[in-house]
Formats: sequence, structure tokens, C-alpha cells
Amino acid sequence: MHPDIHADKLLILYFGSQYTQLIARRVRECGVYSEIHPWDMSDDDIAAIGARGVVLSGGPESVNLDDPPKVSHAVFELGVPVLGICYGMQTMAAELGGTVEGSIHREFGYAEITPDHSGLFGGLSDVEGEPLLKVWMSHGDRVESLPPGFVATASSRNSPLAAMEDASRHFYGVQFHPEVTHTLKGMEIMLRFVRDICGCACEWTPDHIVVDAIEKVRRDVGKDKVLLGLSGGVDSSVVAALLHEAIGDQLTCVFVDHGLLRHHEGDQVMELFAEHLGVNVIRVHAAERFFRALDGVSDPEEKRKIIGGQFIEVFEEEAAKLKDVHWLAQGTIYPDVIESAGAKTGKAHVIKSHHNVGGLPEHMRMQLVEPLRELFKDEVRKIGLELGLPRTMVFRHPFPGPGLGVRVLGEVKRHYVEKLQLADDIFIEELYKHDLYDKTSQAFAVFLPVRSVGVMGDGRRYDYVIALRAVETIDFMTARWARLPYDFLEHVSLRIINEVDGISRVTYDISGKPPATIEWE
Ligand code: XMP
Repeated sequence: MHPDIHADKLLILYFGSQYTQLIARRVRECGVYSEIHPWDMSDDDIAAIGARGVVLSGGPESVNLDDPPKVSHAVFELGVPVLGICYGMQTMAAELGGTVEGSIHREFGYAEITPDHSGLFGGLSDVEGEPLLKVWMSHGDRVESLPPGFVATASSRNSPLAAMEDASRHFYGVQFHPEVTHTLKGMEIMLRFVRDICGCACEWTPDHIVVDAIEKVRRDVGKDKVLLGLSGGVDSSVVAALLHEAIGDQLTCVFVDHGLLRHHEGDQVMELFAEHLGVNVIRVHAAERFFRALDGVSDPEEKRKIIGGQFIEVFEEEAAKLKDVHWLAQGTIYPDVIESAGAKTGKAHVIKSHHNVGGLPEHMRMQLVEPLRELFKDEVRKIGLELGLPRTMVFRHPFPGPGLGVRVLGEVKRHYVEKLQLADDIFIEELYKHDLYDKTSQAFAVFLPVRSVGVMGDGRRYDYVIALRAVETIDFMTARWARLPYDFLEHVSLRIINEVDGISRVTYDISGKPPATIEWE
């Protein structure tokens, strides 16, 4: 019997902070399952979660505004420890009888706190022999007077009450953010809360998650057959490996090879899944059909629609050939599930369920099996490794659904795609060789259908241009162009011009996001 990995869990109430998912991830890194829910979830739902502890996230609001988001008193009646972070501390203070004031000194960035006796961080220090912690602050308001029963446990230059606690009721508040890595002892503080104060057993580990997911899939689908659209991306690959482990031949994967994949990618997917792992994979060679559908189309959105539409058609045709399949597997992950709405108001933070199946036609309605629904991307990667997938697959950069269709600017022609595949392959190969691949978040080549003059040997060339794009980012919402070494870029440029027929010039994209996007279309 393996442990019940959902038995000890933490509830994280979302008050609007961008760091909320980070809190949930840190709790899980401590080995404890966590769920994010909106701050205004009903008292009954709060109780029904059965959490061993509650974390109140930060948020952009002020408790002194009209009708601010408030922590429900039901949280304090659960009889479990509560940790309020930043706004979470302020709403806790305000609701339990303290006061919060707008501070003239906004505190943003690194700060030093002097910790006092505290169950949460007492005895921790970043400077030998001195009680001093380096922490990350981001707040305007601050707690001015403590609620009854609380004592101050730390002060900073701008916040005499930078942390508070009521040890008898196990209520803790910190003005700083222990969930970000800038707070050097943040992980130790989280561990103390999760393990020592809440008393959780730390069973949420990749090996347990895999065993648990396999058992659940077996329970849900029984002897039924399951269909999975395999793209070669991390999520669908991990689903394939997991389902294969769970139900073996009951799984059939359909891999639509639309001709807009990276160099040799189709063969690599088949080699890994069909040959190496022994998964049933049907590869549909559909390039001809996709190129035909894209003929003469140059508008990016139109191209996306065509590629998406063709994809569904091909997938549906293949599925129709299979008999008695009642389940469709999907690589939905936790961030898809907790898509937050209402960020504009800062109040109505609704957590919607994700409808990834959107595009599938009515008559293909099957029951869904989504074994990664509870997992963050870093957890998906860890269980991918646990299931024996190679690191190069598990840590692969993201690749857009429409593939090279949006990396050939304008009209997509087969010979443009072929040149792009070769150039992209050289760039990626060199990134690996120079140990730069894992230092960038996403890197790729783009084909520009304009011609420029060049000389090679004694001859004049009038050929196409390749742009190289490499970015560093955490969330792909904003990105910084990667400062790749000049010598490296020169080497890649020379290789592309020498080895890819029809390319006479290579440029490097130095636009950040915003204002540019990561992809060129
Ligand atoms: P942008 O270009 O919007 O890209 O800055 C952000 C991230 O999203 C990926 N991307 C896509 N993924 N279908 C996808 O599945 C798409 O149409 C698509 N467009 C962009 C992009 O590769 C980057 O990681």
C-alpha cells in the first residue's frame, strides 16, 4: 500500500497576488499537496477541503478600501494553522481586531528583518552570529496595531510589525514573501509551517504521485480503451508514458505528423514511444494535406485556424477508425485548471475549469481522463523522469501547436519549411553543445521570406534570411532576449549560411516581450 498523498493538504486562498502559484508550488516542494481557491469560496467549501493548514496569499488591494477582499472567519474556526502572507497578513490582522495603515514608505525589493522569538523563523539567520534575515518585500500598507493575542515577531526599517503570531492558536502573519527565492531562507520557513506547525506528512513525491496516478487511471477506465493525441510535447508525452504504464495496450495514441514539426521530430517521437517504450502509436502522415490547405494563405490568424481545423479533422478521422473507444486522454495541467479571471477588479477572482477539448466535434464526446490535472509543469517534468522519459524530452523548450507554420512568415511553402528545419536544427544542436540550451527558456529559428544580397566565394547570392530568437522567461508572459555570446552567434550564423542552401543572411532578434511577442506571428 502506498500512502494517501492527498490526506494531508494545504488550502491556499487567492487574494490576487501573482505569486500565489509559487506558494502552492513551494508547499508541494515541501512534499505536501496544495490547492488554490478564490478568497471568497463559501464557508462550507472551505470546511469540506479538510486542509491541515491554510495560507492566505498576497494581493493588490488595501483592507481600508470600500469592500475589500476579506478572509472569512470560517478559516480561523477550522482549528488548523493559518499563515497570512503580505495582504494575507493584513486581512488577518484587520479581521481579528488589529489595524492596518497605508505607509508613506512603500517597501519593494530586498529588506532585512530582525527576527524575534518565532515558531516560524526563530533561530534562522542569513548572517553568522546575528539575528538577521534577507527577505523580499512588496507592499504599501502595513499592520499598525496587532490583534488581541498576537505578538510581533520581526521588524524591518519600514515595518515595525513585519511579522506577527499567535502561537496558541497557530496564526502567523508575515509582511514579506517567503515563497520567492529572493527570501533566502524562504524554503526553510515554508517547511517549518508545512511540516512542523501544520504537522503534515511529506508524502507528495514524484514516485508516490506516479503510483497514485496509475491506480486512479486503472480505477477510472477499467478495461476500456483510451485514445490520446500525442504531439511530442512534454505534457502529452508524459500522459502517454503514464497511461502506457497503467493500462498498456488499452491505450492508442494518434500522432498527427503535419509536416510543420522540427527536423526529424516525427521520427524521434516514433522511435521513443513506439519502438523504445512499446506504446501503440498511429502516425498519420498528413503533411501533404496541411500544405495544400495553407496554399496561398499568409495571414497569421488564418493560418492558425487552418492548422487547428485540419488537425481536428485528421484526428477525428483516425479516431473513427478505432472501435469502442470511450475515453479521451488529455494533458491538461493545474495552471490550466486554475485560470484566474477578474484580475482587473482584484475581487471577483474566479477559478474556472478549463475546457481544453473545445475543438472536438459533438459526436466525439468521450469521457475525459486527465492524469496531470493536479500537477504544475515542474511536477509533470519530475514524473516524466520518474517514468523513464529522457531528459532531452522532458526539458524540451515549448513548441507552439501550429508548429513551424507560424515560424515561416507569411505563406507557408514546403521548401521554406525545409530550410527552416535545417537552420533551426543547427541552432538547437549548437545550444546543446555549448551548454546554453537549458539557460534559455525558448530558442528557435524563423524563416523570413525576403531576399538579401550576399557573396560566397566568387559568386553573388540573392537568398533568404533566417532570424534567430532566444529568450529567458519564467512565465512566457514577459520575456528578455537571451544575451548569447557573440562568438557563439557568429559560429551558428556561419554554419547556417554554409550548410543551408538558399540562406545568405542570419540576424538575431533583440526584442523583449513586451513590446514584441516571443513568436514572430
Ligand atoms: P507569444 O508569441 O504569444 O508566445 O509571446 C508565448 C508562448 O506561447 C507559445 N505560442 C503558442 N502555443 N499555440 C500554442 O500552442 C499557438 O498558437 C501559440 N502561439 C504562441 C509560444 O511558443 C511561447 O512559448
